[in-house]
Formats: sequence, C-alpha cells, structure tokens
Amino acid sequence: MRPSIQSHRKDEHVFLAEKYFKATASAGFADVRLLHDPLPEAAVAAVRFDALPFGWRWPLYINAMTGGSAQTATLNGQLARIAAACDLAIASGSQAVALAEPALAPTFATLRNNAPHAFILGNLGATKTPAQVAQAVAMLDADAIELHLNAVQELVMPEGDRNFHWLDAIAAIVATVTVPVVVKEVGNGFTREALAKLRRVGVTTVDIGGRGGTDFGQIENARRPRHDASYLQDFGQTTVESLLEAQGSGLTILATGGLRTPLDALKALRLGASAVGLSGLVLHWLLQDGEAETIAHLKVWQTQLTGLMALVGATTLPELTTVPVVLAPTLDHYRTQRGLPHP
Ligand code: FNR
Repeated sequence: MRPSIQSHRKDEHVFLAEKYFKATASAGFADVRLLHDPLPEAAVAAVRFDALPFGWRWPLYINAMTGGSAQTATLNGQLARIAAACDLAIASGSQAVALAEPALAPTFATLRNNAPHAFILGNLGATKTPAQVAQAVAMLDADAIELHLNAVQELVMPEGDRNFHWLDAIAAIVATVTVPVVVKEVGNGFTREALAKLRRVGVTTVDIGGRGGTDFGQIENARRPRHDASYLQDFGQTTVESLLEAQGSGLTILATGGLRTPLDALKALRLGASAVGLSGLVLHWLLQDGEAETIAHLKVWQTQLTGLMALVGATTLPELTTVPVVLAPTLDHYRTQRGLPHP
C-alpha cells in the first residue's frame, strides 16, 4: 500500500521533532525557584505518590506522539514496552489517521499488545464524534481518551483544518463516552479563560501542554513549501505560565511541554500539576540511545524525583504544594498582569 499523506506526515513529525530537539528547553522552569530547606525533616523512604489521577503509580507519563506508519508502529511498540517496564501510563499519538484508513489501526494497537496492563490513553482531535471516540478507545482497549487542541499546528500545517469551533464536540464527547476524557494542548499552552470554558462543559482533567519543548509551529513550518510561518514558532504560554493560569481552576491539571529534568517535574508538581508528561525527551532518548537505555533514563527520573521530594521536605504531593516558591521578575510580572494568584 502506498503511504498516504497522513501516514507520511507521522514520519515527518518524528524526524522534525528530533531534528529540533533541544537539550535545554524554555518552558519557564528556570524562572521558578523552590526554596531550599536545610532541615527537610523527611526521608526518601517515606515518600509516597498516592491518590494520583486514574490510580497511576507515578506522577509521570509518556505523552502522545505517534502511530500511523510502519516506522511509527515500531516506535509505538518500543514506547509501550518502556511504559510497561517503568510502570507508567502512556498516551497514543492521534488515531485520526486510523479512523480514516482502518488498515493503519495495528500501528496503534501495538501499544496495547506490548503493554497489556498499562494505563493507555487514546488520542484524537476535538473535532470528532462520540462514536469515533468509542472506535479509538476500542482500537487500543484504552483506559482514557485524550482530545488534543492544536490550533497553531492546524493553521501552520499546509493541509490543516481552518475551523476552530471545538467546544460543542468536546461537550458531546464528555457527556457520552464511558472512559475519562483528558483535554490537552500540544505545546502552545493554556489560559485561565480556556480552562473555565472546558470546566463549564464538564471536562475535569486538562493537560495544559505548554510552550518550551516540542514546537508544532516550528515543525509544521518546516513542512510548508515556502517556510513562511516561522513567526509562529514560540507562540503561546510556557508550561510554567500555563500552570500559573491553572491556579485555582478546580480541574485536575497535568503538565507537559519542555520538561528536561526531575527538578522541572518537581516544580510542575509544586505549581499544581497532579502528574507531568514527557514526549520529545522520551523520543530523543529512544532514537539516540534505544529502548533499554530509555527505560534506564526513566528509572533514574523516578528515583531522583522521589529523592527531590524528600530534599524539599515533602513526603506526599499535598505536602509539596506548601514548599515556598519564588518567581523571577518577568514571570511574576506575567502573573500580576493576568491577575493570577501567587502559587
Ligand atoms: C506530539 N504531540 C502530540 N500530541 C497529541 O495530542 N497528538 C499527537 O498526535 C501528537 N503527536 C506528536 C508527535 C511527536 C513526534 C511529538 C514529539 C509530540 C505533542 C505531545 O503530546 C506534547 O504535548 C508536546 O510534544 C510537548 O511536550 P514535550 O515534547 O515538550 O515533552
């Protein structure tokens, strides 16, 4: 079968995400300081991550990336085995291509085949019907569904959608599907106002998907014949700004976008995330170092995140949220201009 444009696009996304991967990201974590307490009065062995979203074992997950081509089917199999080995939840890349071309379903179903017991999130755009969501869930025997919001990507993508009326479709999905729904941005961040809109239609969990890591404005611009939309690179709110936007939202907040170290993860959790997602970094590890080393990298993160909790005197996530935090002047300026509370 000749690969379709959608199938080819999946390979291009992987290639371009890795081409533009930066070891140091700009998601805002450098502007957040957690104060060091020289008397933490906590022990690493006492740290517990419990009461996590969906009963997850770790406040860390592998977020949506791929599927839809032969190459990405291989990656999905590897990612699933990595998730299983590290006891992490994992999200599929957008399954829309497999709804359009059912022959591509196995490139996604390999996630479930390689991680029979993992918590797997399906993934579709927010334009789909409840019946299509049910199909995507069945394809993976998924435990939840992510609905991605990607207006910047669609606009820059030569073949992208040009209609951004999504709220009614989200409301219909939330009202009818049987699995939990996570609404996510793909790397351009969130506002308080958008979170309120989602809450009004019954959404309970949002991944604020902030700017600073993988940048779909940049990736799709590279796919444009004239590369004439480079100004939309770096558009939107960073992951940290988006976490400030989410203060007091009343939603369960997940945070993905440009996390590079376990300390970034600790800061995101301190700023109210219930769990953090990694995409580009895991892909980078996998492509550069292979499956076994990626598992080793993630296990280091798990060990170090646990250690960092004790370092700041927290044995649980609720305790972590009381650790004193100081924001750099530009970030605090953003916060006050937006009328957001200090975290
Ligand atoms: C993504 N991302 C993504 N998100 C989504 O909801 N559906 C998708 O199909 C994809 N596809 C995709 C492909 C590749 C190659 C990458 C690297 C990423 C976005 C991803 O889930 C995440 O929101 C962003 O990548 C930001 O996180 P990182 O990469 O900075 O950790």
